[in-house]
Formats: sequence, C-alpha cells, structure tokens
Amino acid sequence: MKEKGMALWFCSARFLVFLFIVSALPIAYILFQERAKTDHHVFHYHISGFFRECAKWDDQGRIFLVSFLEGGVGEIHVLQNYTRDVVLQEVTVIKDSDLTGNASNGIALDRPRNRLLVAVADVLGNRYSGLAAYDLSTWKRLFLTKLSGPGKYSKPIYVLL
Ligand SMILES: *[C@@H]1O[C@H](CO)[C@@H](O)[C@H](O)[C@H]1NC(C)=O
Ligand SMILES: *[C@@H]1O[C@H](CO)[C@@H](O)[C@H](O)[C@H]1NC(C)=O
Repeated sequence: MKEKGMALWFCSARFLVFLFIVSALPIAYILFQERAKTDHHVFHYHISGFFRECAKWDDQGRIFLVSFLEGGVGEIHVLQNYTRDVVLQEVTVIKDSDLTGNASNGIALDRPRNRLLVAVADVLGNRYSGLAAYDLSTWKRLFLTKLSGPGKYSKPIYVLL
C-alpha cells in the first residue's frame, strides 16, 4: 500500500509542482548571480557548447583554460576584431574520442610536470568516472585512469601536486 502511495505521489500534479520549484530555485539563483553586478572583473564570451564546468588561469602560459560539460577542454584566446575591440574566443585543445559521452569536470594545472589533470565523469548516467592527464605543450594524453565503472581497473596511481 505504501509503495503504491509513493508511485501515485510521483505521478501527481503536486509532485510536478514540487519538482518544478526544487529545480527552478537553483536555476533562478544562478541566473540572478550571473546577472548581478560585482566589483570583480567578469569576462564574457560566446561558447560553442552547453556549459563550462571549470576555469583555471595558467600563469605561465598566460591563458585561461576551461573544461566542457559535453567533454573536452578549451583555451580562451584574446583577439582583436575589425573594429579593434577585444573579443574572446574559445579554442578547443582537448577532445578525447576515448571519452566521448563523458563530461570534463574539474581541471588542475600541474606545471612542474607540464600537464593538465582532468576529472572525467559520465554525469548523466553515472556509469564511468576517471582521471586523465594531458601534456600542456602537445595536448597528448599522458594517462587515463578509471576511478569507477564496469570492467577491470588499472593500477592505482598517485597524483602529487
Ligand atoms: C567587435 O567586438 C565588439 C565587442 O565584442 C562588438 O561590439 C563589435 O560588433 C565587433 N565588431 C565586428 C566588426 O565584429
Ligand atoms: C566514458 O568513457 C569511458 C572510458 O573510455 C567509456 O567506456 C564510456 O563509454 C564513455 N561514455 C559514457 C557515457 O560513459
């Protein structure tokens, strides 16, 4: 009886209203934060994808790096257009075909080892997560270690930062 009650609750209009409020509030908050004026310097640019998860300033390379929720990493290039205005352009530097369908989440610069560490996860399906590292000069993958998912696991790795 209890289970049936739960099932009915999930289909009810009341639940839909509840779901709407629960999901609308954080989105409204994010929109409010995005539009609010701050005393920080905010950079705006048009992205080619959906959502940018993490941004890091590479002090040595003098460039911003951003990770893509649809998978991949880009650099933000500062250019001048015809009217000599500064425009920012996102240039994809990592698009790993082995990881298609996974999101690139947090990124960490490891300058002493000249590499970028990327936390990778199947955010929607929760079937895979891993840690990948890429060479900062060539963008070639140095390693990919599975942290969760089906099949065998690779040897444990230690990441020192
Ligand atoms: C140059 O960039 C500025 C600022 O983003 C924009 O307002 C302007 O329309 C651009 N001009 C051209 C010719 O693209
Ligand atoms: C994520 O990456 C893993 C490892 O390459 C792959 O097996 C999997 O199919 C990818 N996609 C999803 C949705 O998990």
